[in-house]
Amino acid sequence: MKNFLGKTMAALLIGSAANAADIQLPAPQNEGGMPLMQALNERKSIRQFGQRPIDMQTLSNILWAAYGVNRPDGGYRTIPTAKNERDLTVYITTPEGVWRYEAETNLLREISQTSLLDMFKLQDYMQDAQLVLIYTGSTADYAAMHAGSAYQNVGLYAASAGMSNVVRGYFQREEVQNALNLPYGQRVIISQVIGWAD
Ligand SMILES: Cc1cc2nc3c(=O)[nH]c(=O)nc-3n(C[C@H](O)[C@H](O)[C@H](O)COP(=O)(O)O)c2cc1C
Repeated sequence: MKNFLGKTMAALLIGSAANAADIQLPAPQNEGGMPLMQALNERKSIRQFGQRPIDMQTLSNILWAAYGVNRPDGGYRTIPTAKNERDLTVYITTPEGVWRYEAETNLLREISQTSLLDMFKLQDYMQDAQLVLIYTGSTADYAAMHAGSAYQNVGLYAASAGMSNVVRGYFQREEVQNALNLPYGQRVIISQVIGWAD
């Protein structure tokens, strides 16, 4: 399997505000793409994933679609949240480890250098998957709604970019929950795989 982060990773590390393995993402490309009505028409689950690496720009775009900051004061996101309390956190796992998406600074904060991908491979089509988004939250009533908004945005981005994606409830939930070592009261809600079909 090719290295997910590729050789560009070293060039993308940032200095003082982050640890060595945190990753400063490039600014998301928040213009263009497929017309909305066409993306809605093409949104679907595609259960095919290949070896083509996902570059940092695409990763930044995916995460911005999911939960990025979309207004200048930094306090609002691409999804609505109850009382704007933003009860949602997005983690990613790749072959290299686990990161938490920090939208305000467009940073991936390293959580672990141990990949959790194997915990998502209960279905055959997942064998070559390289990127899984893990949505976590705390409130019983709203967090799942926020996750649903985020995974729909990612599904639309995938349609626009020609990528495969599947929302996935079938994974080793308890193992993932334990491995993430979430803050008290936080739980894993749902996951989503995204990548290139080839
Ligand atoms: C909450 C949720 C959980 C899902 N879990 C899985 C899953 O574990 N594995 C899978 O292959 N598809 C999963 N799906 C995808 C659905 O099977 C899929 O959305 C549905 O069959 C409709 O197909 P479409 O997305 O192409 O419209 C899930 C979808 C949702 C919304």
